[in-house]
Amino acid sequence: MEKVVLAYSGGLDTSIAIKWMAENYRVDTIALTVDVGSNDKDLSKVQERALKTGALKAIVIDARETFVNHFIFPALQAGAIYEDSYPLATALARPLIAKLLVDVAREEGATAVAHGSTAKGNDQVRFDASVMALAPDLKIIGPTREWKMTREQEIDYAQKHDIAIPVTKASPYSIDVNLWGRSCEAGVLEDPWTEPPADAFGWTKSPDQTPDEPLYLVIDFEQGIPVALNGQKMTGVDLILKLNDLAGEYGVGRIDHVENRLVGIKSRETYEAPAAVVLLQAHQALEDLTTSKDAARFKKLVTQAYSDMVYNGLWFSQLHQDLAAYVASSQRSVTGSVRMKLWKGTSMAVARKSPYSLYNFGLATYDKGDVYQHDAAVGFIRLWGLSQQNQASAQVLSPVDAVKSMNPPRDVKVAK
Ligand code: ARG
Repeated sequence: MEKVVLAYSGGLDTSIAIKWMAENYRVDTIALTVDVGSNDKDLSKVQERALKTGALKAIVIDARETFVNHFIFPALQAGAIYEDSYPLATALARPLIAKLLVDVAREEGATAVAHGSTAKGNDQVRFDASVMALAPDLKIIGPTREWKMTREQEIDYAQKHDIAIPVTKASPYSIDVNLWGRSCEAGVLEDPWTEPPADAFGWTKSPDQTPDEPLYLVIDFEQGIPVALNGQKMTGVDLILKLNDLAGEYGVGRIDHVENRLVGIKSRETYEAPAAVVLLQAHQALEDLTTSKDAARFKKLVTQAYSDMVYNGLWFSQLHQDLAAYVASSQRSVTGSVRMKLWKGTSMAVARKSPYSLYNFGLATYDKGDVYQHDAAVGFIRLWGLSQQNQASAQVLSPVDAVKSMNPPRDVKVAK
């Protein structure tokens, strides 16, 4: 029999998928569970369940380090955020899982890969497009988007085929978790006029239940990569885990977003991304200090293109490779420390320093030590305003027009 490698989470969908693919595609399933930091799961249990459910083989890969170093941190350096809101946790993990599906398919001689994403989401696009780029010859099966069963029918199917239904208590939401964030949708969240209820959140305290005193944190960066927290060096995985805990305790990182999916749907999702929010802010604060004005403005264009590309599933594209190279190069001087203040659901950078700081006290100060050439300012403005001055003397504006061009509010009387 031909073999398929399935991205297996241990939930109802992927558990049924093993039997369903055997019946409908006559394939043996190799279940692959990728650990990208789904914090509360005992993955050996998931592995056991895959075997009980009929998988030929069940493989677990701890990919947290790869996820952080090759996906999360490059995205942090890029300042990646979708539609100014979503730090892209789910979107970043998909190409990595796709890559591992392909690797395992090659090792095991499988002819197809499979995933449990629905036909309405972005995730199917990310899986499929990544596999298409990495292994154009592999078939892709998406059982959940093919079988058109309701949840009730899925449960019936499981019972009929003796598939143990996962014992986790059924959540009213669809939740996806990894180190960079927790994504939560469906249930009452489908009404964008309903405030997310308390049970939509799992990582963060409600800001009204957080400590009254602020928490200060110092984050050290080397070339745009966070390397230490409060002076203590740590691995990326540990730093993110620690920050998720700390910032979550202070209610930081809650996001309520109506977003534009690639497949044409507007959807409402809540995110919790305590570490991502704090690190993106801190990183931006350090770039503000160390990046020239022109480079900073250009970086914004790159950030926008990069974020859309990640969201839209084009990680393994040529454009990504080229943007990533730009981003990496842009981080040469993004080294230094940022002090963050966390309080009641907010976080902000309150201090920053860098050996490569472009902040020049002598140029900036209004006090003693001023080295700025004041008369140069006068000369500069003479040329800066020259074109306007020239136009004004050639094409005389009436005083009435001049005032109108200021868009005066209606109740301002303009003298004739
Ligand atoms: N909307 C997010 C994205 O497209 C998250 C998708 C998965 N969300 C979930 N709750 N299962 O990246």
